Amino acid sequence: MIFIAADHAGYPLKEELKPFLEEMGLEVVDLGNEELDPSDDYPDFAYRLAQNILDSEDSKGILICGTGQGVCIAANKVNGIRAALVHDEFTALSAAEHLDANVICFGGRVTDLETAKKLVKIWLEAEFSGDERHERRIEKIENIERS
Ligand code: RB5
Repeated sequence: MIFIAADHAGYPLKEELKPFLEEMGLEVVDLGNEELDPSDDYPDFAYRLAQNILDSEDSKGILICGTGQGVCIAANKVNGIRAALVHDEFTALSAAEHLDANVICFGGRVTDLETAKKLVKIWLEAEFSGDERHERRIEKIENIERS
């Protein structure tokens, strides 16, 4: 299952990405916003998506705000979420292979639809490398979460 959520600045890209995800055969759950509301706040969507991921085993998420930075900061406050801001093929691949990111974040004012489609596909099709150094670094993040 893949969750997707966005504030007003990410809303257009969210709406455009959904059919692409469905065409990929994914079960897509849209966590809002349901309509373009210029007064909405990105932390609300980041937190809602983070909670849904923790409640659904093996799920992943896509968060979109204007820059991608706000939703990324907010989602990473939730233990168990590793949200990565991606903007090119290298960051999308690293998000999966090095960081084992369960969430990726886009800037709707930064990344166009065709780029976002390509990066989602790269992230979903890649796997965590399992290399000892990446395992060790993720364990250190989990230690911070427990501290
Ligand atoms: C909202 O205007 C904008 O600040 C927000 O979407 C995001 O870009 C924050 O990082």
